[in-house]
Amino acid sequence: MAPSRENQPLAAILTGILDRLRVRREIPPLAPDERIDGKVALVTGGASGLGFATSVDLARRGARVLLADRSHPQGARRRAVSLGVPPDRIEPVSVDLSDLRAIDGLVADLARRRVRIDRLVLNAAIVPTSARTTPQGLDEMFVVNYLSSFALVTRLLEVGVLPRDRRGPDVPRVVFVASESHRWSEGLPPGRLDGPRDGSPRRVLGWYGTYKLMLTTFAWELARRLSEDGSPRIGVFALCPGAMRTGIARELPAALRAPLDVAMRLLFQDPFAADEPVIHFACSRSLDGRTAVYLHKMTAKDVDPRAADPEAGRLLWERSAEILLDRARPGGSIGPGGSPS
Ligand SMILES: NC(=O)c1ccc[n+]([C@@H]2O[C@H](COP(=O)([O-])OP(=O)(O)OC[C@H]3O[C@@H](n4cnc5c(N)ncnc54)[C@H](OP(=O)(O)O)[C@@H]3O)[C@@H](O)[C@H]2O)c1
Repeated sequence: MAPSRENQPLAAILTGILDRLRVRREIPPLAPDERIDGKVALVTGGASGLGFATSVDLARRGARVLLADRSHPQGARRRAVSLGVPPDRIEPVSVDLSDLRAIDGLVADLARRRVRIDRLVLNAAIVPTSARTTPQGLDEMFVVNYLSSFALVTRLLEVGVLPRDRRGPDVPRVVFVASESHRWSEGLPPGRLDGPRDGSPRRVLGWYGTYKLMLTTFAWELARRLSEDGSPRIGVFALCPGAMRTGIARELPAALRAPLDVAMRLLFQDPFAADEPVIHFACSRSLDGRTAVYLHKMTAKDVDPRAADPEAGRLLWERSAEILLDRARPGGSIGPGGSPS
């Protein structure tokens, strides 16, 4: 697999600038009365950047948020409370998403407590400067940016913490934080998904796009599997928030990060503004009964045709499930039509 875009920091800056200039709002702002009082939301990577803003804004709209992160979820809860969020609306959850066993532990804990998730926001991602290995011997970026979402969603479905037995407008929703960079990827790898990765910093945004393509392809396959007669059992949505001022590039070497930092300060959005499509997907009643919708900021677009391809989705699902079987745990997945297989 050879991800494209060697000139990646420059590409990221240009994308951010073009976003500012080109992407027009198509969808009006969410009305204040579009609330999700009492709903349970789980947000991954909730301690900083977009995940933190999302956690705060969902709690402000009435949700009880499980704020999941590997570092400082307690501190994030304190910061949320200092912003006026009622303390009982945020529960910090410590989980390292690079460790498949920790994901299993989180799911088992939620199942034991009989938690039912109404809104799942898959947000965590990293931009590492080297290829690091997880406790299961996989590449960390592959796991955090893609496989952890596959593992979390399929496990939550298996144990019913993410329920798919509801009907009508009140079905749960899964929101994938993807990126327009899914269009840049040269495509899914022809060999094993978990093959070795060139960890050089100059290639990292190419891999970033490839993992976002995997994530979007998985999302569209999930939407197909969780719809019956055109009626979704779970609404599945994906988005690109546009370029944001966050710490996502914190690991890049100073020479690559410096121009990005300047662009971030001058041009990129604050996460509390950029979370608008996430909050829209989680709260808007206009999405009742809908699935497989993609927003680039507040404008609807088609996903890349490769992500919408059912054959690619089926293959990706099978190959991801195989890795989980190989590496982590006894299996189980959901088959076409949402039935256990
Ligand atoms: N920033 C942008 O311009 C931009 C543009 C398009 C899309 N996005 C997407 O937006 C999402 C949020 O990114 P962001 O910009 O807000 O980045 P961020 O500020 O770095 O937030 C990512 C969060 O994920 C957490 N995380 C990383 N590895 C983890 C792990 N193994 N287990 C649990 N949590 C982990 C991080 O925790 P640590 O602090 O411990 O690392 C951090 O809290 C990502 O999916 C990103 O791809 C970002």
